Amino acid sequence: MSEVKATNVHWHEGQIKQEDRERANGHKGVCMWYTGLSGSGKSTIAVKVEEKLFEKGIKTYILDGDNIRHGLNKNLGFSPEDRTENIRRIGEVSKLFVDAGVMVMTAFISPYREDRDKVRELLKEGEFVEVFVDASIETCEERDPKGLYKKARAGEIKEFTGISAPYEEPSNPELVLNTTEETDVDKNAEKVVKFLEEKGYLSN
Ligand code: ADX
Repeated sequence: MSEVKATNVHWHEGQIKQEDRERANGHKGVCMWYTGLSGSGKSTIAVKVEEKLFEKGIKTYILDGDNIRHGLNKNLGFSPEDRTENIRRIGEVSKLFVDAGVMVMTAFISPYREDRDKVRELLKEGEFVEVFVDASIETCEERDPKGLYKKARAGEIKEFTGISAPYEEPSNPELVLNTTEETDVDKNAEKVVKFLEEKGYLSN
């Protein structure tokens, strides 16, 4: 838990509530939390899902690990503590997006179960949809889109997830996409959209 330094601060309630924004948007606010190894397909699938949702007039936004680490979280590395802080911040940012009535998708390795569960607890029941993008380490290493596995094997990157740092699989994810078995991005994205439709997230 990060240290609380903010004292004498008070919550100021707005007049427009999440329900009002959801009514205006015509759909629910939700956080779809993609988790999985680097190269498993989190960002690729999220981008495809966003395209499909956008076409339906849905308000979406993607928070992507690599992108966020260029700005908001550029002062964080890959130690267990920094990863925990990375996920804590993104959990809080996601909560703001959900409050804004947006369908936010996060694509972070988020290797620690406890960190992900804390984000789940931040949100209301049903607002956290954990999507486990399940690809074997062999698959990811073979894909190696950024050449990082090669560097990690050569010892040039320390604490690399799946090689020299752990990945804890979700115990109870809402959705599992096995991208070793199903390599078609469109089909995987369609599964997500179908889930959202069936569970009533796409209407209000
Ligand atoms: S997380 O573990 O804190 O959730 P995050 O998703 O933000 O990670 O960032 C992961 C991305 O950072 C990877 O896709 C990869 O491109 C890059 N990266 C650089 N160093 C590492 C490392 N040691 N372990 C994992 N990913 C790394």
